Amino acid sequence: MGTAVPAPQALVLDAQLVEAGATLPLSRVYLAPMEGVCDPPMRQVITRYGHYDECFSEFIRVTEEPAAYKTLLREVPELEHGGKTDSGCLCRVQLLGDNPNSLAISAQRAVELGATSIDLNFGCPSRFVHHGGSLLLKEPELIHEITARVRDALAPEIFLSVKFRLGVMSAEEVATVVAAVAVPGVNELIIHARTRKDLYKAEGLNWPAITTIMDDESSGLSHGIPVVANGDITDRASSCQCRMVTRCWRQMVGRAAFGTPNMPQVLHGTEEAMPLAAVLDVAWEFGLELQKYGCPEKSVMDRLKQFLGYANKYRFKDVLSPFFYTFCRAQTLGEAQQLLSAKKLELGAAG
Ligand SMILES: Cc1cc2nc3c(=O)[nH]c(=O)nc-3n(C[C@H](O)[C@H](O)[C@H](O)COP(=O)(O)O)c2cc1C
Repeated sequence: MGTAVPAPQALVLDAQLVEAGATLPLSRVYLAPMEGVCDPPMRQVITRYGHYDECFSEFIRVTEEPAAYKTLLREVPELEHGGKTDSGCLCRVQLLGDNPNSLAISAQRAVELGATSIDLNFGCPSRFVHHGGSLLLKEPELIHEITARVRDALAPEIFLSVKFRLGVMSAEEVATVVAAVAVPGVNELIIHARTRKDLYKAEGLNWPAITTIMDDESSGLSHGIPVVANGDITDRASSCQCRMVTRCWRQMVGRAAFGTPNMPQVLHGTEEAMPLAAVLDVAWEFGLELQKYGCPEKSVMDRLKQFLGYANKYRFKDVLSPFFYTFCRAQTLGEAQQLLSAKKLELGAAG
């Protein structure tokens, strides 16, 4: 095995790759799991506007004790509604841990509660996750054992995916990682095209490393396990270029999803990205949803700032930045509502 893996490089859009990628299919778009961001209220709201093929729970930490039923229901309340958000988007249950047995039992429990798809997290780079997430990528035997044990514990019709980074220190590790997790019966591999070392750095992005592993005939991917490309897909152009570079027809979107709530339709080329005024409405709707979940005012304000922060960073920097900084000083929901209304009036007057 082993074509050399290209070096990482921040994404530079290339008009020819984008144009060629636009002719390629896109079969599935997923909303990424994001701990502290893509929680149940966020999933409810975002999947109302974005026609995602599936969304994911935040990672559920599994220790030597399997996840309790009540934990699974708290983290994934969708399980009480056929495993779907109100708008009918399936929610895949993501588990994180290092104990094959308790992960397998946790997966079975999620299925008993109604889950039809499970994901294993070998991608989280957090230093607060001890012996779990992407740290396990340096233990291929263990991630193999976990994946095989969870697969064996589930009925064949239960969809199992594995989400991981290219490696711990270098993308050269990806072949070993893929060989470990490409267990027969695994339905999908989701690759965040960065190493653990590169965290979320723009210059750590490495879509071509996905291509290299897909082209490697000795990798487990020759068994035909579909691959989902993830990392810095932020709009239609980057999605098209990613299709062209990786030849993955499945994509996952994380941080850019909030500035463009109708992201899947945008990536498919069937809708324009929602204008800012509509995105501000979605932000407010998110605030209302959080209140329905009993979130106290201070936390709602923090989450609104987080939402607008992502929208500002990934889409509307030029127009939203001054407003965003004012918004960050707001303390109450009354102030937030006034600021959002005033901004919408201003946008209406300008538009
Ligand atoms: C705040 C935050 C929380 C995240 N939490 C998770 C998680 O719980 N599980 C997981 O597999 N990945 C998690 N990720 C990684 C994302 O799912 C995704 O792989 C990463 O953000 C790259 O995609 P993007 O460039 O589209 O954002 C998280 C990322 C961020 C920024």
